[in-house]
Amino acid sequence: MRVIDRELEAELLEAALRSGAHVVLEGPPGTGKSTLLRQVSSTRHVPFVLVEGNAELTPARLVGHFDPALVLSKGYQPDVFVDGPLIEAMRSGGLLYVEELNRVPEETLNVLLTVMSEGEIAVPRLGRVPAAPGFSLVAAMNPYDAVGTARISSALYDRTCRIAMGYQSEDAEQQIVATRSPDPDPEWRDRMVRLVRDTREHPDIRVGSSVRGALDGIGLAVELAGLRGVPVTDWKVGLVAAKAALTGRIRLHESSSRTPEEVVTELYEKVFGTDPDLSNGEGSPGER
Ligand SMILES: Nc1ncnc2c1ncn2[C@@H]1O[C@H](COP(=O)(O)OP(=O)(O)OP(=O)(O)O)[C@@H](O)[C@H]1O
Ligand SMILES: [Mg+2]
Repeated sequence: MRVIDRELEAELLEAALRSGAHVVLEGPPGTGKSTLLRQVSSTRHVPFVLVEGNAELTPARLVGHFDPALVLSKGYQPDVFVDGPLIEAMRSGGLLYVEELNRVPEETLNVLLTVMSEGEIAVPRLGRVPAAPGFSLVAAMNPYDAVGTARISSALYDRTCRIAMGYQSEDAEQQIVATRSPDPDPEWRDRMVRLVRDTREHPDIRVGSSVRGALDGIGLAVELAGLRGVPVTDWKVGLVAAKAALTGRIRLHESSSRTPEEVVTELYEKVFGTDPDLSNGEGSPGER
């Protein structure tokens, strides 16, 4: 998918990579960091190696390892070394994209920090591996993800250019969902986007939903309406879809005494009004 409304960020990223700088893309989940990087890297004819930052990303996984069976027969020869993603990107002058950098264990992070400042890596029994021209590390970080953010900040920021990716504008989010789900009623779809954006402003909510909540909620409502044989604008269909798409995505403040269901229902009623069956005086049929 082409990245929508990120012209400045795309230009900056392209310029940073051309200049050989390393980059940190910093923004909440779902703000288009991976989409932007994929688009920019697709126009560069270099390999793109992706690693997911998590506790299992040990230095050996990132750098590579000697194949134990081959070491027995051939010894520690260079051709017995199985390149990990870092060495693969370094040798080929490619891009190493590390998602969720703040979840990478300390010792693995130290390897990355060294590569960023030295432009090479020393691997025991293999020797020095220099980074070929074009190699860059691009890291994505989520500012709400407190795990380890403080410990890496100064060393990391000193070695990277930072591109901030805030939430998309309302216009951009409407375009993103319209591109993905062109069918449903546009006015209804825009209201679903509004509802998702409202989760980022609600006083009980600490972290609201990204545009992914709108993409899922709309997709779900379309299918649910089809199954029930009702229009997608059906009030109950929208509420059920909004709850399924949003209650797991939002994070309430610890001090809040409400449930995610209550908060999403309140936001839904604010955007779509209250249950039309109730205002018709038919009594409450209950939510199905
Ligand atoms: N500016 C944009 N243009 C087009 N699509 C977008 C844009 N922003 C987000 N999206 C869509 O929203 C979804 C999430 O985007 P993406 O995966 O790029 O976010 P991210 O910032 O990498 O999230 P995370 O931090 O969780 O990895 C994708 O389906 C993507 O297509
Ligand atoms: Mg991503």
